[in-house]
Amino acid sequence: MLFAVGEIMLDHDVIIIGGGLAGCRAAVEIARTDPSLNVAVVAKTHPIRSHSVAAQGGIAATLKNVDSTDTWEAHAFDTVKGSDYLADQDAVAILAQEAPDVVIDLEHMGVLFSRLPDGRIAQRAFGGHSHNRTCYAADKTGHAILHELVNNLRRYGVQIYQEWYVMRLILEEGEVKGVVMYHILDGQIEIVRAKAVMFATGGYGRVYNTTSNDFASTGDGLAMTAMAGLPLQDMEFVQFHPTGLYPVGVLISEAVRGEGAYLINSQGDRFMANYAPSRMELAPRDITSRAITYEIRAGRGINNDGSAGGSFVYLDLRHMGEEKIMSRVPFCWEEAHRLVGVDAVTQPIPVRPTIHYCMGGIPVNTDGRVRSSDSGLVEGFFAAGESACVSVHGANRLGSNSLLECVVYGKRTGAAIAHYVQNRKLPTVEEQRYIQEAKAEIQTLLDQSGELRIHHLRQAFQDTMTQDCGVFRTEAVLQEGQERLHNLQQQYSQIYLDDKGKDWNTEIIEALELRSLMVVGRMIITSALNRRESRGAHFREDYPDRDDGNFLKHTLTYYSPSGIDIQNRPVAITMFEPQERKY
Ligand code: FUM
Repeated sequence: MLFAVGEIMLDHDVIIIGGGLAGCRAAVEIARTDPSLNVAVVAKTHPIRSHSVAAQGGIAATLKNVDSTDTWEAHAFDTVKGSDYLADQDAVAILAQEAPDVVIDLEHMGVLFSRLPDGRIAQRAFGGHSHNRTCYAADKTGHAILHELVNNLRRYGVQIYQEWYVMRLILEEGEVKGVVMYHILDGQIEIVRAKAVMFATGGYGRVYNTTSNDFASTGDGLAMTAMAGLPLQDMEFVQFHPTGLYPVGVLISEAVRGEGAYLINSQGDRFMANYAPSRMELAPRDITSRAITYEIRAGRGINNDGSAGGSFVYLDLRHMGEEKIMSRVPFCWEEAHRLVGVDAVTQPIPVRPTIHYCMGGIPVNTDGRVRSSDSGLVEGFFAAGESACVSVHGANRLGSNSLLECVVYGKRTGAAIAHYVQNRKLPTVEEQRYIQEAKAEIQTLLDQSGELRIHHLRQAFQDTMTQDCGVFRTEAVLQEGQERLHNLQQQYSQIYLDDKGKDWNTEIIEALELRSLMVVGRMIITSALNRRESRGAHFREDYPDRDDGNFLKHTLTYYSPSGIDIQNRPVAITMFEPQERKY
């Protein structure tokens, strides 16, 4: 027999898919709320290799350690304005109000934040924030937080399934009952039954060909949710981080600009003066990424030989001096040095926008309960972090609000789950049916006789997304892209796997991840076609203005292989009326 089958179905009170910040924080909260609950975390890598570990610049909270005039209301306003008024303001209020407590709680868990001379947590400037409120651990903040959270999982007795790939969400008649998972080590397939399932599966940067995200960011949780017939929300809003290291695309943190670095074009001009004069390099990411792209399009980019007209701009740290560079942003210096041979103390760093974050995701309420429609909720299903859309970021996220969302909403969702499962029985699941279907799916992949290699199809898909659904979008280009993506998806049945074995068959995982990328990519481009306005990160050259009359609403997208259906949800406007967005 090719696949060992579990003798007994695995049962947990709660199963959390995703070992990054949101998932770990939720697990800790469940264990703190009710230590008798049996909680497990499943991760397709080791949890400390989850993409949260790569977060650099910081976590926003109005601790007022550097600026005593800061308030949670100012944080909420900056977030809503940054979102181009698409964020749900009730969710933003919670985010901003709970931020100081969750950061102090992290400190108590042992997170090594950078300090002010008097010992309090240091805070720096970040794009779109009106006050210096971003707490940080040099430029390795995600690393510092995630390591401490994973240590705490052990302390609270949370079971970890590492290097298991979750293939399917078990959803029957509006109720989530568990998941089907595949052990990368030996091909074992297991059904896990649970009173509550939480997705904290992160983003999908790998839908594009250049991204700051790790190789594991393939949108699996989003795709599984969509393939189960549930909606995704606001998928058209894809964040380009302005300063991806050219040409590799890895992140050069916004912290570098927060600490004073300049963006300059081939003429040596700080061009942000023409796009966001009051914020300069610390404008929100959508505006800064467009500005860089305009400069490059206008022939004021730089070539590899330093001459004009090329495809990147410079991030210039030289005036900051070696001591500041090495103490505040040492990792960014190291990346530039190691990957492109630039010593940022004496040379400017080549940068251009890179895919960084998805504002959309699995729609949830402020307790992390997954929505089945505008008004309905799914029993037994929760989500938080980048894979979820509680819509605190709307059409454009501010830097340092992502780690915050993971911690605030990871914690809230954990608390909500701990209460939710109290009166719930373990659901009944037809184990053999799901095992047989999963085995058949894997066997079909192994038996395919086409000649297409996975990486060719993936590259074609990523290139199409990058060319046709990038910083600037138009109807014609999006339509062409949509057709191309559909055709590429038809070719999935022609991929050929060279490895037919069961041990560490990474080709099977790559094939399943490609399935996810294709579902997610099609949902992004269809949502982008549908939104005939420009808002936040979604810029339509054929509809360059924001259109509140027709589009101040969330997009809900329902997937089926033959087509994608679009509905809408209203935006919660509880504090700030939409205004023109200027910086
Ligand atoms: O630039 C950065 O350090 C990224 C931060 C974020 O995405 O929140």
